[in-house]
Amino acid sequence: MRKLLFAANWKMHLGPADARAYCTVFLAKSAPLPGREVWFFPPAASLEAVSNALQGRPDIRVGAQDIHWEPKGAFTGALSAGIASQAGARATLVGHSERRKIFGETDAETARKVGAALAAGLVPMLCVGEELKEREAGNTLAVVTRQLAGALDGLSAAEVQKVVLAYEPVWAIGTGRNATPQDAGAVHREIRKWLAEHGAPHPQILYGGSVNLGNIAALLGEAEIDGVLVGGASLEPDGWAQLVRTGAP
Ligand code: PGA
Repeated sequence: MRKLLFAANWKMHLGPADARAYCTVFLAKSAPLPGREVWFFPPAASLEAVSNALQGRPDIRVGAQDIHWEPKGAFTGALSAGIASQAGARATLVGHSERRKIFGETDAETARKVGAALAAGLVPMLCVGEELKEREAGNTLAVVTRQLAGALDGLSAAEVQKVVLAYEPVWAIGTGRNATPQDAGAVHREIRKWLAEHGAPHPQILYGGSVNLGNIAALLGEAEIDGVLVGGASLEPDGWAQLVRTGAP
């Protein structure tokens, strides 16, 4: 059976009290579905509340939105993989375009974060994607390949196999514009090829960028797309529960 992953990136929304209320509604509206997993990436301060609220559901996993590459030390404001794990995280986003663009995160830093996640037993969900000017210049595949190599080149095949990928074209994030399923599928095929050459023949590759109830069915209809990473449309539990059920029997 095809395995689908629905990941909610809450960004800087939903503190612990709001997150608990969200989880109560979500649990009431959603039952586990065969072949589907739901992952939540709440803000760091809500990790423990969300993982406690959802712990009875083996189909659900909680993750951090970002981690620091060092295991501990004098890094004011940063979150280590170990601390995230103690708070209930079993995964982490790495290299989200907002981290790259707003916080100046480099490919070299994403590589260190992937390494730190793996060392702490968190599944890294590596985000890659081109900006509009890069797409218009025909550089999409070059940019995505550079980001893949930058983050994963030093890893063994066994390590690369543990990484989940999210292709998120930057121009589609939070803008209401999304890649066509065919465009996304074409980039996913290239990512799959790169990963196969680096020892991961069966990767899980999600699409992200303005996914909503109106376009998710078409995106999931693309065989290359193994799930979605969703920001805005994951912030309201009723709508998110509906999204997660899309196309289920
Ligand atoms: P969006 O965000 O669904 O609001 O476009 C996706 C993301 O940034 O992961």
